[in-house]
This record gives sequence, structure tokens and C-alpha cells, in this order.
Amino acid sequence: MEAYNLTVKPWCSCLLLGLFAVITFLSSFANAETHYHEFVIQAKPVKRLCRIHNIITVNGQFPGPALEVRNGDSLVIKVVNNAQYNITLHWHGIRQLRNPWADGPSYVTQCPIRPGATYTYRFTIINQEGTLWWHAHSEWLRATVYGALNVHPKSGSPYPFSTPKQEYTILLGEWFDRNPMDVLKQALFTGAAPNVSDAYTINGQPGDLYRCSSKETVRIPIELGETVLLRIVNSALNQELFFTIANHQMTVVGVDAAYTKPFPTRVVMIGPGQTTNVLLTADQPPAHYYIAARAYNTAMNAPFDNTTTTAILEYKSASCSTKKGQSSRPILPQLPAYNDTATATAFNAGLKSRSQVNVPTTIDQNLFFTVGLGLNNCTRPNSPRCQGPNGTRFTASINNVSFVFPTINSLMQAYYQGVPGIFTTDFPPVPPIQFNYTGNVNRGLWQPVPGTKLYKLKYGSKVQIVFQDTSIVTTEDHPIHLHGYQFYVVGSGFGNFNPSTDTAKFNFFDPPQRNTIGSNPGGWVAIRFVADNPGIWLLHCHLDSHLRWGLAMAFLVENGVGQSQTVIPPPADLPQC
Ligand code: C2O
Repeated sequence: MEAYNLTVKPWCSCLLLGLFAVITFLSSFANAETHYHEFVIQAKPVKRLCRIHNIITVNGQFPGPALEVRNGDSLVIKVVNNAQYNITLHWHGIRQLRNPWADGPSYVTQCPIRPGATYTYRFTIINQEGTLWWHAHSEWLRATVYGALNVHPKSGSPYPFSTPKQEYTILLGEWFDRNPMDVLKQALFTGAAPNVSDAYTINGQPGDLYRCSSKETVRIPIELGETVLLRIVNSALNQELFFTIANHQMTVVGVDAAYTKPFPTRVVMIGPGQTTNVLLTADQPPAHYYIAARAYNTAMNAPFDNTTTTAILEYKSASCSTKKGQSSRPILPQLPAYNDTATATAFNAGLKSRSQVNVPTTIDQNLFFTVGLGLNNCTRPNSPRCQGPNGTRFTASINNVSFVFPTINSLMQAYYQGVPGIFTTDFPPVPPIQFNYTGNVNRGLWQPVPGTKLYKLKYGSKVQIVFQDTSIVTTEDHPIHLHGYQFYVVGSGFGNFNPSTDTAKFNFFDPPQRNTIGSNPGGWVAIRFVADNPGIWLLHCHLDSHLRWGLAMAFLVENGVGQSQTVIPPPADLPQC
């Protein structure tokens, strides 16, 4: 064999290499799979916290079915709406290159799927690996309509860390002891903040610390000494969470759909929409340990759900060795205080891309977005419809524009068909006036202007956005999610962003790549990306209460040159409004 290699003529080895390359190239296509699924949206009675609720599910499952796919695979998901509500599904974090039609936000890229109707989402995963998820993107249906979308490496390509023995997905959720759609409806009527949830959940189960729940507590078995991968998703509706495991350290290896430099931590802070992959090694005395999550709450004087959800990490050797078996109480971890911003900030600061990345160093679009809440004054304060603070109604905005979703057409359909009057493209690149954003803000600036305004981007433009939290009503960490893109988080800080001193400290070397990032409570965060995906893409706060109040805007990314830079035609079954 070796002798043969040595005698091969140079031109011949070249040919062999070439042939080999062609075969690998072809087989990488041959390996890409298409996954077909039918997702039937249907009501299903589910018992939690001692009470049965008829919740909206996919195929009667809660949480919904997990999608296990590989980078390069395609998905064809036929959604059949057998529920009483309009619905759409969103594949959170999937880039949907040139294919906004499969993205899903209601009245943004499509009209909702009516009760009794169907729509098939078709898309391909291109150069993305990691943990993503899917959820309903209409009103508050995502409270129960969500599931994992785990993107594994192409077959034959390894993880950039040693292959874990097992993988577990941990979907963190929020449970309401009421129909979540009624909770929203009530809030929209009264103008007050919506009721908070009654429990957090791990894979749909609240766990031992809640009434009538311990029988179903999620158990994660582990063998002494083995390393497993946990794919943690925050699917909660309105709450950032701290996540920890008693007596164990975790190693973060990825966030959203990107790998990170491994870093050890005892606590993960995770905002709604975000995902975090951690490696966990069973290196402690065999026993049962609680995995726990509870609120990281940054809004001031606002009620929040202060309960704790748990699952149990069970060393397999422990069940036989403990005399009383199940009755021995698992060890509870210490969680950070609800308002522990220092811990949250330290966690975010630890996230770095694995190696040097290609961040745009020059920018064509320098955007500065103030994000925050507001209060609308009422002509008849304290009427049933003005139950917000001091007889007002809650609202929220970006750059003083409170986003209003269209109701008679979707933005993308109106744009594609040239239907006028649905939106305008005059979203302001900076707030209308400068003020001390995180100081004591004049009352005259608390009332934003409603509008359906988009911001136009030329194909390929290099964009920077600084999200500046405001102290209007309260400072708060807003998890900002951009559809259709993954961006680099190049900087963050507290107080007001200072363009000269803060820009100088940006990380252009190994910033993390994400699809959702917190604004920092009373602070700012800066992101960069290249607008290489044409279409209309929603940008919004992933706290659903804020989204409904208008903490959103959308980008209209124009087509570039030629087919490869142009939105594909809509599918024939795209729902009409
Ligand atoms: Cu995960 Cu627009 O959402």
C-alpha cells in the first residue's frame, strides 16, 4: 500500500484527489435528507397544577414533536389547523435564505392559517448547526405550541468537542392556570400588564416544587463519569431565566445556532428565544440532583412569577445504592437572586465564537434603536379600558414608533404583489430626539406614535444596530430577536451608549453569533450583520407581552442582482388574508 503510494505519479495523485473531492461533494448531497411531517394543530386536555385545561398542541403533544435534522437537510411540514384560532408556525433561528414565505410570523411574512385550513412550510437548513426551536407566531399561542429543532452536523462531520454519550433537550416554558389567549385578551382590554404565569416548566412539567406535579417530574438519567450534551431552550413567554444544576459545573459549547469557545459556568442566563448548549459531566457522588430554573427579573416594581421549576438528574448507580430509593430528596441548587444582573452580565461576557470570525469592520448603515415601554394617556382615565399605571394603557416602541401589525394583508404579500397602503418604509434610523435614555425621562416622551413602518436595506449592506434600553416606565432586559439572520454581538454596556468611547472597545475578533440578544437593563447592546437575505424580516422583543404592545419593527431587504440574490416566488398554498 505504502509502496504503491510512493510510486504514484504526481499527475495521477492529483486526479485521484480530484475524484475524491467530487465523490465527497456528491455524497454530501446524497446524505442530505428531506424530512416530511404533518403537524395537526388541535386542542387537547392536559392536567397541570391539579387542573385540566384544553390547550392548543401539535398532534396532541405537549411540548410539541422534536425535529432532529442535519445541517443541509430540508423540511416539509404540512400544518393542518384543527383548532379554533388562526395560527402560524415560526422556525426560530432558521435563516430561510431568500424564502421569507416559510418564516411564519403572522401578518409579516404570511397571512394566518385559518381554522380548517392547511399550509406546508418548505425550507432547507443552510450552514447552520446547533439548537433551534419552533413555535406558534400568532398572539399567545406559543405558550403551548412549541418544540425543539435540533440541527446536527452533516453525517460524518463531528462536533467541535468530543462526542457526548447522550443528548437531552430541555425546553423551559411557562404555564398559565388559565387559557393564555384569555390572559392576553384581558390585558389588551384593560391596558394593564397581563397576569404572570403560575409555573415554569421543564419539558412541559413544573416539577416537585408545585402542587400535584411530583409524579410527572422530568428525570434525566446519567451514568457516573459520562458526559452528556444538554440543549437548553427558553420557550417561556415573558421571562428571562437562570438555569443551574445542584453541585455541577457546566461547559457552554454553543448558543443559538453557533458554537462557542467552551467556558465553564455554574449558572446559565437564558432569555426567551435563546438556546444554550452545555456539556455536563457526571463527576459528583452518585445521587439525585435537582436541575432548576427560575426568573431573572429586571423590570422594576413589576409583578413576576417567582416560582422554581425542577427536573432531576439521576445517577443510575444512585437508585440502587440509596436505601429509601425515590423518597430520598434530591439536592437543591442555589440560584442567583431574581435581580442578579452581575451574574447575567458575566454569563453573556463569557460567550465568544470559537475562533476568529468575519465581522464587517466598516458599516453602511449605522442604526441606533431605543427600545422600551411606554404609557398611553386615556381621555377617560380609570375607565375599564385604562387600568395601566395612573389610568393609562401600556405600550412599547422602538425609536418612538409602536409597531402595529397589519390585519388585511401580510407585509411580505403586500410587498411582493405591490399592494399599497399596508406599510411605509420610513422607520427612523435614530430616535426622533436625543435624551438621557436611562435617566429620569420627561413624561412628554412616554407616549410613542403607532405605525407600520419598515426600514429598507440594500442587498449586501453592512449593518450595525445599537439597541439602547430606556428607563421609560422601567429599565429592563429586552431579548431582541431578528428573523432571517444571525448577527454578531460586538459590544454591550450599561447606561447610555457613547459612540466614540464604546465603539473603540468593540470585539471584532471572536464575538458570539446569535439570533436573540438582551438589551441589558438600563444599558445597550451592539450587533453587526450583512443584509444578505432579501425579504421582510421582523425584529422584536421576544417577551410576548412587549411584542403585542409594539416593541417591534421590520426590515425590508431589497433583492440584489440575479436569482441567487432574489426572493423565491411564494408557494401556491400560501394563505391569503
Ligand atoms: Cu421566536 Cu418572532 O420569534
